Amino acid sequence: MEIRSVSWYPANDPPLQIPLVYHTPAYYNDTMKTFHIITFGCQMNEHDAERMTGILEAEGCISALAAEDADLVILNTCSIREKAEQKFFSELGRIKQLKDAKPGLKIAVAGCIAQQEGAKILSRAPYVDIVFGPSDISRLPEMVEKKRFWSAPVIDIAGDPAYHQKRIPTSRTDKLKAWVSIMYGCDNFCTYCVVPYLRGRERSRPGADIVHEVRELGQKGYREVTLLGQNVNSYGKGLEEACDFPSLLRLINDSSDIDRIRFVTSHPRDLSDELISAFSNVPKVCESLHLPVQSGSDDILRAMNRKYTREAYLNKVKRLHLAMPHITLTTDIIVGFPGESKRDFEMTMSLLEEVQFDGVYAFKYSMRPGTAALKCEGHLPEDVKESRLAQVLDLQGKMTSQKNSRLIGTKQEILVDGFSKKGGTLCGRTRGNKMVNIDAPASLVGSLVNVTITAAGMNSLSGRLCE
Ligand code: SAH
Ligand code: SF4
Ligand code: F3S
Repeated sequence: MEIRSVSWYPANDPPLQIPLVYHTPAYYNDTMKTFHIITFGCQMNEHDAERMTGILEAEGCISALAAEDADLVILNTCSIREKAEQKFFSELGRIKQLKDAKPGLKIAVAGCIAQQEGAKILSRAPYVDIVFGPSDISRLPEMVEKKRFWSAPVIDIAGDPAYHQKRIPTSRTDKLKAWVSIMYGCDNFCTYCVVPYLRGRERSRPGADIVHEVRELGQKGYREVTLLGQNVNSYGKGLEEACDFPSLLRLINDSSDIDRIRFVTSHPRDLSDELISAFSNVPKVCESLHLPVQSGSDDILRAMNRKYTREAYLNKVKRLHLAMPHITLTTDIIVGFPGESKRDFEMTMSLLEEVQFDGVYAFKYSMRPGTAALKCEGHLPEDVKESRLAQVLDLQGKMTSQKNSRLIGTKQEILVDGFSKKGGTLCGRTRGNKMVNIDAPASLVGSLVNVTITAAGMNSLSGRLCE
């Protein structure tokens, strides 16, 4: 069994006035002492799992390493593509078998599928005990407590309207790098995407809360934070105390001991000149940016409701390169969006060649319930999507290898964050977020060191410690 420390915010710590989410300890008797969380999906879900862990540990529960050792299994789900949903249902089947062998086991479904399906999950899986949405996490202890006395399933997907203003105990899996949510939800309604329906409207966390959390992380020895939001560039809408994203970056830079700041995800439309200049003016902001383009064709971008053109995107890339010539750029691509012609697809391929991204996450368009793209004309057959995906991956694989090999001989600062799986003994990431394997003593884990890059592959680099 794994026992992790819980990160509490000290009750008397100024300047925050917000109530801490907590419940009377010893809520639970021996029937629900251990839990295990299985997470699918994005970093936001990973971070939500850290919060669920923090909340349950604060109640005296213990995180079990395997579902087999747990009294409560939480499946923290993702609905972004059909495949993610299939993965969840197959895992749910496996957990059901555990429950058959151990009837006291309770199963909870959390995350985006829980929000999407609510009580409907029970028609497919009547053995599920608890269903709760991403903004209902802070009520998890009450749900678990209710379930001790109720035979009926507990469903809570109402969403807590004050969730973004709450401080929630968090039990982090990493000791050097931390995720920090800065906003929830999305207002963009890209026509293919379920997120706005599942995570609700955009809500920003108060700047003081975020700065406080990062400062506390620095004091605990964390070296890097990744600020999380579906569209971090529009951070600040609706806040009582005006604070936009570049100002938040500066505040964090100036008021914490951490060394590195990263953030995901940026919407190209909202990438302002001020934010571009933050890459050169705010020292802790690392020179890497994930800027999802989705398609290189204006017709498809319009059909996706992305609200920028190919030219506008390329202009922003140009400005980024002017401000920070060595910036690492990655992107997301959807192939086979309804109506995507051969020519539209070629525009995507040519955009990839023009930008020369460091990495691409490419996906086949997947029909999602309730989204506008379902009604678009021209849904494409699977084999066309398959073939386009393979072409994108092939082209990008070559470009990523080439870009990485250009780093051979350069000096890079890396944050040594652990032991490498292949080559060298330790590994770490450059400020540009490239993985580097090095031969170095284990005592360097947690340090920033300079290395010279000696070799490069598609997924990682090798380096030698500088004298
Ligand atoms: N908020 C972020 C990312 C959200 S989801 C953004 O706007 O960039 C991550 C990626 O999943 C998206 O960028 C998109 O490329 C992909 N995606 C979302 N919905 C999809 C769908 N229906 N089919 C295929 N890919 C999808
Ligand atoms: Fe989805 Fe678009 Fe919002 Fe990203 S910006 S979460 S792709 S709707
Ligand atoms: Fe998936 Fe929800 Fe994240 S749909 S990608 S877990 S916001």
